[in-house]
Amino acid sequence: MSKKIIIAIDGFSSCGKSTLAKALATKLEYVFIDTGAMYRAIALYFLRNQIAFDDQVAIQNALQNIQLHFAYNPVTLKSDMYLNGENVELLIREMKVSSKVSEVAAIGLVRDFAVAQQQAMGAQKGIVMDGRDIGTVVFPNAELKIFVTADPAIRANRRYLELQATNPAITMEEVADNLQHRDLIDSTREHSPLKQAADALVLDNSHITREAQFELALNWAKERISLA
Ligand code: DC
Repeated sequence: MSKKIIIAIDGFSSCGKSTLAKALATKLEYVFIDTGAMYRAIALYFLRNQIAFDDQVAIQNALQNIQLHFAYNPVTLKSDMYLNGENVELLIREMKVSSKVSEVAAIGLVRDFAVAQQQAMGAQKGIVMDGRDIGTVVFPNAELKIFVTADPAIRANRRYLELQATNPAITMEEVADNLQHRDLIDSTREHSPLKQAADALVLDNSHITREAQFELALNWAKERISLA
């Protein structure tokens, strides 16, 4: 039997990282982990409990009360995020959380908390993990690192269409502003900013279909698996 590897997928917001990661994991029978969902669930907890983002003591205490886990949803055929036993998969995608999550993900204590859990999840390999710092910080020795990128206008349009399904009142301007805001914070923050790992393979999906993107990434994965 072939050896299992770690596949790290990083890139800007709304680049289709999760779609690609999920498809790869399904095909390879690997575990898919959406690390953005973990930061979103932590942000939801902070918002609900009015934790000030600059209060280190309150943050430290809050993190001790946060339990995160993923569980498979047989209806949607994907894993949902649970915060202290509550399914928060839909709540964490709302604009209220999206507009604050980058600030929460920039907090050093929060990153240490999330990264330790992510590293434990990958200890047995056989995972596809998507995020911003997976190839640089969480798994710097991942056998395959993919850096996904796409034109900002195309990303905003994709995200707009996705959000409109559940929130018809949302405007394109709101979506584009939120994406721009998150990109800026994610790539300029002090703790593990989003950056391409030197050994990552770049995948620009502005003008290729999901299927073509999947085939390309699958070939890279097969090649790395055969070398493992
Ligand atoms: O991928 P996403 O949009 O669901 O991510 C939500 C936020 O969390 C986004 O602002 C980037 C941040 N994030 C991060 O800093 N590190 C990760 N590994 C994953 C997400």
